Amino acid sequence: MSYHNPHTPPRKSATFDDATLAEIRRAAATGIYDIRGAGTKRKVPHFDDLLFLGASISRYPLEGYREKCDTTVTLGTRFAKKPITLKTPITIAGMSFGALSGNAKEALGRGATIAGTSTTTGDGGMTDEERGHSQTLVYQYLPSRYGMNPKDLRRADAIEIVVGQGAKPGGGGMLLGQKISDRVANMRNLPKGIDQRSACRHPDWTGPDDLEIKILELREITDWEKPIYIKVGGARPYYDTALAVKAGADVVVLDGMQGGTAATQDVFIENVGMPTLACIRPAVQALQDLGMHRKVQLIVSGGIRSGADVAKAMALGADAVAIGTAALVAIGDNDPKWEAEYQKLGTTAGAYDDWHEGKDPAGITTQDPELAARLDPVAAGRRLANYLKVMTLEAQTIARACGKNHLHNLEPEDLCALTMEAAAMAQVPLAGTSWYPGKAGF
Ligand SMILES: Cc1cc2nc3c(=O)[nH]c(=O)nc-3n(C[C@H](O)[C@H](O)[C@H](O)COP(=O)(O)O)c2cc1C
Repeated sequence: MSYHNPHTPPRKSATFDDATLAEIRRAAATGIYDIRGAGTKRKVPHFDDLLFLGASISRYPLEGYREKCDTTVTLGTRFAKKPITLKTPITIAGMSFGALSGNAKEALGRGATIAGTSTTTGDGGMTDEERGHSQTLVYQYLPSRYGMNPKDLRRADAIEIVVGQGAKPGGGGMLLGQKISDRVANMRNLPKGIDQRSACRHPDWTGPDDLEIKILELREITDWEKPIYIKVGGARPYYDTALAVKAGADVVVLDGMQGGTAATQDVFIENVGMPTLACIRPAVQALQDLGMHRKVQLIVSGGIRSGADVAKAMALGADAVAIGTAALVAIGDNDPKWEAEYQKLGTTAGAYDDWHEGKDPAGITTQDPELAARLDPVAAGRRLANYLKVMTLEAQTIARACGKNHLHNLEPEDLCALTMEAAAMAQVPLAGTSWYPGKAGF
């Protein structure tokens, strides 16, 4: 006799859902963990869970066509002799040549330059394409030291010491052999075609005191001209920000768990780090506690997609933001026009994340010369510039509606939260109340 109720349809488990079952079978069949690019795919509290209040009788809005709303930002005002001034606070995040094709790096440089913002090198050194086409170029100093040399430090406009990334705080980089072409191998002093894993921590220091010495060394090499950023993954933002300030940073770059990567273990991307939304207030608190808010600038990244996201990050206290994934989409990543080829790779436009394999139909995350040639860096740069312009205008529109004549004048008071989680993380009131979790009473 069957005990199954014939009137109940078969039920699948929420714990063992189809994706989980498929991953168990894949792991069982191959014995290797899943590596992929992009950021977390799970839903975590994000900027979507916040809304702007706008102005009405109690607040006075600014007129869009006549009243100015400034979007400029100056980075590196603490110690650098030559701080950087950008027309928009939306910067392009560090993405390595190696992960990306030369044409993709050139497109990022072109787009950022038209928009009046900066772009950033990555784990793999500085290419001539990128230096040549980027008016303002930030040079990453990474645990791997790939492509690191004093000449390029001096050719940069700022230096970003990468301690960690939001997609993998505590983890190192990965570049699989299929993307290690002659040129990439040469720039990284690596054998061609062999999988490369870069270090998860810098060999030059073990803590903030040694980091301070390293920063002094970098300042000496560059004659105290360049702003020095420290990039951390969103893990313990209060203490990491405080220690970065202590070590002498001009700028702190804080990358939340939605932050993209070129290649890492899926288990890492999905299970390590804190959502971007949860990282900002503790970092700003650390800066305020040290009397350094707006003196040491804060750049926030991880899942920024629109002018609304930019404005929300700034209202929570950021000075600027950085975008990686969205910039790649703007230049042509995951474009449905390549759908037939995505299907051949077993995926679809919008879901393609095997960036480590080097088979990108859009010619962006590849070193294959034929695929890379598909990306026209001039046209792609123009698309990026358009996108940056739209985001800047969107952020400006919101700021004016909140009565602000500079994006930096946005503040937590301009926001409300849609969920308890977002209210607690962003420390802004739940919509319709003046309360957020952790704040006592009314
Ligand atoms: C293709 C790709 C390559 C990346 N390479 C680097 C890198 O070399 N160094 C680094 O610090 N971060 C790297 N990142 C992370 C970005 O700098 C940035 O933190 C992240 O993309 C921001 O999140 P978003 O993609 O949601 O905008 C990479 C990201 C992507 C998508």
